[in-house]
Amino acid sequence: MRKTEQDGTPLGVAVIGAGYWGPNLVRNFQSSPAWRLRWLCDLDVARAEKVLGGYSTVQATADYAAVLADPDVAAVAVATPAGTHLDVALAALRAGKHVLVEKPLAATYADGLRLVEEAEQRGLVLMCDHTYCYTPAVARIRELVHGGELGEIHYVDSVRINLGLVQKDVDVLWDLAPHDLSILDFILPEHVQPVAVAAHGADPIGAGQACIGYLTLQLNTGAIAHVHVNWLSPTKVRTTMVGGAKRTLVWDDLNPAQRIAVFDRGVDLAAPAEIGAEERRDMLVSYRTGDMVAPALQEKEALRAMVDEFAASIRERRPSRTDGRAGLRVLDILEAASRSLEFRGAVVGLRTGH
Ligand SMILES: NC(=O)c1ccc[n+]([C@@H]2O[C@H](COP(=O)([O-])OP(=O)(O)OC[C@H]3O[C@@H](n4cnc5c(N)ncnc54)[C@H](O)[C@@H]3O)[C@@H](O)[C@H]2O)c1
Repeated sequence: MRKTEQDGTPLGVAVIGAGYWGPNLVRNFQSSPAWRLRWLCDLDVARAEKVLGGYSTVQATADYAAVLADPDVAAVAVATPAGTHLDVALAALRAGKHVLVEKPLAATYADGLRLVEEAEQRGLVLMCDHTYCYTPAVARIRELVHGGELGEIHYVDSVRINLGLVQKDVDVLWDLAPHDLSILDFILPEHVQPVAVAAHGADPIGAGQACIGYLTLQLNTGAIAHVHVNWLSPTKVRTTMVGGAKRTLVWDDLNPAQRIAVFDRGVDLAAPAEIGAEERRDMLVSYRTGDMVAPALQEKEALRAMVDEFAASIRERRPSRTDGRAGLRVLDILEAASRSLEFRGAVVGLRTGH
């Protein structure tokens, strides 16, 4: 263990990838007292230099080997395209570095598993940047679900649509659904787990891969979760509904004045559960119409909380809140969804161990 991991002085970190997302990691590592950013590495070194600006003491390089050879680098953050995550992250783990990988953890489940096993064998932290899990809204939703405020979960419905950047290497499910799936993984109580998925998609503009995607997840409790992602929507919508036996929660991420609303409203069947289906059809459905409560939330940048959690998990020698295994569970669903897409929406079972 490095001295800095024990004595509370800032941990040295390198960011790999200075494209669209890397600069956000750079900014947050630089603003956190837990970290000292030492390197920004990109195959295009001019891009890394531009992100750092003329007066930075952080080193820009295209030489990844030099980064890994630096004994003051305790951790590496990987913000390169998903297809490169395995090689870049594996090299870092083999050099004894703790690793943060952008979502999705890897391009396949098998690659993700190699990373998880390598980190576990070496006693290193492997964390996946499931950014939304570090937002105050998702933290509150998790609290409400885990605290039983909503009752048994009946359904989750998530919509993430926008005029998005049509990606070259991944379809819309692999690009956007990791957000919704990682949120689902984070908020559901341990006893509620996805068991199978059906996916539908379309590519009406001829981009070569699905630009619109719908995922339907069966949960082991009989509940259902649905995810709608779309790069072609002229309006931006980011809402998630979590319907419970007692209350229903609506999260609208584009409404900062009232991101979360909890409705004490729902439907009850006015009959004991043990009666037969025949009688059940004749039962009276009753509607509850109670209050709506909008919990107050702190406005705090999720990425800052994420990099602080990365440092804390290294110092406390524990898995991070969104560890490699969480990244793996998301990959399991994405891979099953791709198989389902090939078979026009067939239901595909997930691996066990969720
Ligand atoms: N957490 C989030 O909300 C979020 C948002 C956007 C993107 N991402 C993720 O971030 C990752 C990067 O996405 P992006 O949109 O920034 O991609 P990008 O293509 O804009 O940037 C990738 C950069 O990595 C560099 N690169 C590629 N291979 C490299 C290597 N072997 N060594 C060093 N540099 C290398 C490229 O030169 C490029 O500058 C992806 O995994 C993506 O899914 C996460």
